[in-house]
Amino acid sequence: MFAINGTDAGTPAAQGESVTLSIDGAEVTVPAGTSIMRAAAAAGGAIPKLCATDTLKAFGSCRVCLVEVEGQRGYPASCTTLVAPGMKVKTESDKLRQLRKGVVELYVSDHPLNCKGCPADTHCELQGVAADLGVTTSPYGFDGANHRDAPCDDSNPYFQFEPSLCIACSRCVRACDEVQGTFALTIEGRGFASRVVASQDEPFLDSECVSCGACVESCPTAALSEKPLALIGRPERAVTTTCAYCGVGCSFEAEVKGEQVVRMVPSRDGKANRGHACVKGRFAYGYATHADRITTPMIRKQITDPWQPVSWDEAFRYAASEFRRIQARHGRESVGGITSSRCTNEEAFLVQKLVRAALGTNNVDTCARVCHSPTGYGLKHTLGESAGTQAFDSVMKSDVIFVIGANPTDGHPVFASRMKRRLREGAKLIVADPRAIDLVHSPHINADFHLPLRPGTNVALINSVAHVVVTEGLVNEAYVAERCEPAAYQKWRDFVSQPKNSPEALAEVTGVPAELVRGAARLYATGGNGAIYYGLGVTEHSQGSTMVLGIANLAMATGNIGREGVGVNPLRGQNNVQGSCDMGSFPHELAGYRHVSDATTRALFGAEWGVQLEAEPGLRIPNMFEAALDGSFKALYVQGEDMAQSDPNTQHVTAALSALECLVVQDLFLNETAKYAHVFFPGSSFLEKDGTFTNAERRISRVRKVMQPLAGLADWEATVGFARALGYEMNYSHPSEIMDEIARLTPTFTGVSYAKLDRLGSIQWPCNDAAPAGTPTMHIGEFVRGKGRFYVTEYVPTSERVNVRFPLILTTGRVLTQYNVGAQTRRTANSQWYEEDVLEIHPQDAEDRGIGTGDWVGITSRAGETVLRATVTERVQPGVVYTTFHFPDSGANVITTENSDWATNCPEYKVTAVQAVKVQRPSDWQRRFREQNEQQLGLLRGATAAARSRQ
Ligand code: SF4
Ligand code: SF4
Ligand code: SF4
Ligand code: FES
Repeated sequence: MFAINGTDAGTPAAQGESVTLSIDGAEVTVPAGTSIMRAAAAAGGAIPKLCATDTLKAFGSCRVCLVEVEGQRGYPASCTTLVAPGMKVKTESDKLRQLRKGVVELYVSDHPLNCKGCPADTHCELQGVAADLGVTTSPYGFDGANHRDAPCDDSNPYFQFEPSLCIACSRCVRACDEVQGTFALTIEGRGFASRVVASQDEPFLDSECVSCGACVESCPTAALSEKPLALIGRPERAVTTTCAYCGVGCSFEAEVKGEQVVRMVPSRDGKANRGHACVKGRFAYGYATHADRITTPMIRKQITDPWQPVSWDEAFRYAASEFRRIQARHGRESVGGITSSRCTNEEAFLVQKLVRAALGTNNVDTCARVCHSPTGYGLKHTLGESAGTQAFDSVMKSDVIFVIGANPTDGHPVFASRMKRRLREGAKLIVADPRAIDLVHSPHINADFHLPLRPGTNVALINSVAHVVVTEGLVNEAYVAERCEPAAYQKWRDFVSQPKNSPEALAEVTGVPAELVRGAARLYATGGNGAIYYGLGVTEHSQGSTMVLGIANLAMATGNIGREGVGVNPLRGQNNVQGSCDMGSFPHELAGYRHVSDATTRALFGAEWGVQLEAEPGLRIPNMFEAALDGSFKALYVQGEDMAQSDPNTQHVTAALSALECLVVQDLFLNETAKYAHVFFPGSSFLEKDGTFTNAERRISRVRKVMQPLAGLADWEATVGFARALGYEMNYSHPSEIMDEIARLTPTFTGVSYAKLDRLGSIQWPCNDAAPAGTPTMHIGEFVRGKGRFYVTEYVPTSERVNVRFPLILTTGRVLTQYNVGAQTRRTANSQWYEEDVLEIHPQDAEDRGIGTGDWVGITSRAGETVLRATVTERVQPGVVYTTFHFPDSGANVITTENSDWATNCPEYKVTAVQAVKVQRPSDWQRRFREQNEQQLGLLRGATAAARSRQ
């Protein structure tokens, strides 16, 4: 098999002073702390090894890597012996060969080299070492005690554990501990009896294992191996691409045979993931070829009509004629488009270009509206740029990590593993979250402070933290004086110092004891490099933007912006949330966050696109819905977004969608929104196209085509086809040309090109003449806006209050194995871990209502009612219930309200006042949903059969 991920130097890199030694007579200089094994690799040699790999600390168990060191007795293991100045090492000699051979022959006696047909054949490290040493069999014979009959554990849907092939090297155990941080594996027993066990000797599926695959990746034999490797066979080629799930943006080598993905191997040189992955990106890619994929364009006049399969051209013509008819009758502003945070930058750019240039309106918005729009607002106003300030690597230099309203182990697992590694090294941890998320207590990690605030009181909490910083003299006055606007700072300082903002005064509001707030504030302000990581638990509130301002205020006041180890870091939800915002998807901004009212910017884009652009901002998603309901908005082009499931107040959304005369949906599946559509453009998965995604650290990474688009066109090509049918010419032969156009028009992207991305691997914007290789850390020396600006952040309680009728607060989140609306993960084996959304409820609230785990619970809010199964748990506090929205028929968004952030309209998903009661049957909405679902699937089945008969 071809080599991927480069050569393995055996042990991790060190960073000490230079040390020069001699290896086999050649001089080599390496940093102090380097192992002899790594030094030999640096000198171009390769010492045989089995238990060592450069992603894990040296362990020294296999004794294959022995060397001779002049002046030292015996034969030290080169993986655990560090270099020293003047050391003279010999890596080859008859004696060494004899010793190594003896060790390998012992291994082979329990693991015969019956390699033909083994999934690891040709890339098994035991096979390789044996071949190098000329070992083909074992002089010890094969009749003694052995493990060859140990049963295979194939409980995990994605990989199997074959103990008969295990050489007890412990790499899997160390990978689970050091890389993933789950500590699910141990070696039980000693010597010959040693064996790998998961948790309390359980099958992998039932154990604490979270299926990240780090153990599989590290296993030198086929003891742990991906199931498709055995089923499909050896891959023929590898394509470097980027995960299409979350905002971590992990880089992968997609290993392919023909048009089939055999496995996804995390790239060791991927700068976002450093060779690690999670269960979604590594294993849950099967949705891309799922039988539910729609691969034929379809049209229909009414949403109660059967779908008609048509050619791409017919679909473009029909959609374009409908949009033009509607504009002629109802005006130019009666139409709009939605870009997707799951599609590529180039695709998002083209959709907003189509709306602005071909349709002549600024009615374009993005699904990022419903998650991180407050981040853009808050960071732009305070710091001058609408994005996070650091690279993920920065966390390894943090001393205090402050996690607010984020659940990284579920939402951003690969970054969480890195963060946990830093915490195990000794960094301190503060968690502000209504729930006791995993980070609060997990193996070898205990939060120094958990601030279990009431949902909806973030701003009160951040004000009370700031109060402590200011009134206890913990402000970094020199930093503030040098880098921030003095008048705005003074105003903020006066505001937060007021007694009403003290932790004692606000404890009643937040529910967090004052001494916890004081302790956390002191730790963050004085503990060294303080880094804030936050998520949707900050943004999805009626004061989401205020909270982002408050976070930036706090970071500026303590001097925690502008170097490694610190910063304000939004953990973006979907793979390309950052990118879709960067690309000008909002109705008021063109690419690079430049306001449409700016005549110079409009002239620049207008000249490139050959049109006059509108100076007035267009409609946001909620305004589009309102306008659809009042009859002034009639047609919408939606790429890769499922508002009918993901947006709040589902019944309001579906009423608005039903009122449209032409809804064009472009997606992989007949999603909930497509059930209200008149035109369906079949989408392409990330495996079927070229482009780029931008992750939460502003890192632009290439997405590369692994297989041909199942529907014949990639998403960007479909948008080009639609634009042309509208009479607006778009000429691109490859997405690289779209990126070239983005670079011409966007100052922060001036230096970005596919050629540079190929050369550097990935680039963090801004990338321009001032920073040709990109910008890992922002705001060094000065803020992008010049002086940092403090904002007064008055706490205004949400109007969504509990009362006798709705006494509980519902808050929402996500789980590791499912993703967003679940369209992808529900179509994979990930559902084995989480097959339905459940309602978490505190034992006290459950007892008051006679609810037990597994009972059906009716949840009613001011917006609607739904029914979910209960899980009784102390993870939630009394008075708070929690659920996810990965499954459409759960109707979690039937109960969320239309309350939204005052500045950006980001919905207040995190706070809904509800009542919960034990019930026996689904809600009326669920019954209607199921009927409508059946009806729509029936209308689709006819089209699918017709498409097949035409082929
Ligand atoms: S898959 Fe990940 S979590 Fe599971 S045992 Fe392996 S390393 Fe540990
Ligand atoms: S399963 Fe693989 S990595 Fe783990 S001890 Fe056995 S051979 Fe080593
Ligand atoms: S952490 Fe996110 S980007 Fe990385 S593999 Fe998992 S889902 Fe994909
Ligand atoms: S590789 Fe050094 S002891 Fe195993």
